[in-house]
Amino acid sequence: MIIGILNSGGDCPGINAVIEGYVSAAYRRGWRVIGFHDGFEGLLPVAGGRRYEILTPMKTHQIRSQGGTMLGTTNTGNFKINTNKLGRRSIDPEILAKAKKTISALGLEALAVVGGSGSARTASLLAEEGLPVISIPKTINNDLCPDTDYTFGFQSAVSVVSESIDRIRTTANAHQRMMVVEVMGDLSGWIALHSGIATAADVVLIPEIEFELQNVIDCIKARKAAGQREIIVVVAEGAKLDGKLITVLNKDNGEERLGGIGNRLSRILEEETGIETRYCVLGHTQRGGSPCAFDRIAGLRFGVEAVKLIEERQFGTALILNGPNVDTVPIEDAVRSLRLVDPESQIVATARDLGIIFGDRPAKELMSDHKKETPEGKKPARKACKSKEAK
Ligand code: F6P
Repeated sequence: MIIGILNSGGDCPGINAVIEGYVSAAYRRGWRVIGFHDGFEGLLPVAGGRRYEILTPMKTHQIRSQGGTMLGTTNTGNFKINTNKLGRRSIDPEILAKAKKTISALGLEALAVVGGSGSARTASLLAEEGLPVISIPKTINNDLCPDTDYTFGFQSAVSVVSESIDRIRTTANAHQRMMVVEVMGDLSGWIALHSGIATAADVVLIPEIEFELQNVIDCIKARKAAGQREIIVVVAEGAKLDGKLITVLNKDNGEERLGGIGNRLSRILEEETGIETRYCVLGHTQRGGSPCAFDRIAGLRFGVEAVKLIEERQFGTALILNGPNVDTVPIEDAVRSLRLVDPESQIVATARDLGIIFGDRPAKELMSDHKKETPEGKKPARKACKSKEAK
């Protein structure tokens, strides 16, 4: 049996682990694996060459610890989905025909697609065309597939962001500054929320919770007045400022993409609070580098389970993490809607109880709670970083 694998869209830590798990489980069954290069583009013929390779356990041994993807990827290209007036999605029929031809010429009996929302939609269209496809959702944003506990890549991104904020805090503390840290997440706030909790951020601004700038300003002023040296604000790239997304123009293709809210917000907060403020955009550091142990294990499990699904001929399915198990849902369910932070969820309530400000409640309300918990004359326990306390 010959089976294929490709990954498409933005990379994330853990993709190589999926590939390693897939190849290992396939070879144990006596199957061969073809890995396609640079996303779906690898399915298209190129003059004088090919865009795929035979993957063996020897080639993929121990790649579980490496970031990026050994197959390369792209989030642009020929498999762009077109939507007609009736909302029907399709891929260019010529491109589809070429991909089908490659699949049949190679004798592929299955194709695993590791991808984000766009790639999962393409996979879903290929499945509708009768191709034997399995989808493995991946993204650092954690915004894909409402039924999964986490997408792989997310935990690694949160670790990188948390370590960066820990570092930012020490310099902010030394200078008594406010630092605004802009993080990825697209239209979701998972990375901001989890890293904000992990690092005791003062303010976390996410797309799912509408905030009033005045609430944020008042809370920061109150914390400063209570003697706090540094202020840490974590803002998701997709959070809205005065109801608007902040974007930058991509000169190459004329498209707008998210980015710039950290800069804007830092200028406003500095002016309104009088606190010296700097901003930091963590950008692609969040997506690069070695996967954490959680994502390595999740990736390996997804790779192995994909092979088992192929063995059972359960095509048109997507893999999810469901408590202790890897389960499946139909691909359409995986892309049905975005997976967003629920403002009423336990994790948001926990963050509030830990003193995190989301900017949706007036400072007075929050500070009266805060004061009740703080013994008179004593500074709040969470205001200084460790190095300061040691002095
Ligand atoms: O991988 C997801 C994501 O990191 C988003 O959070 C971000 O907006 C986007 O990809 C950036 O992708 P790129 O710069 O590679 O197009």
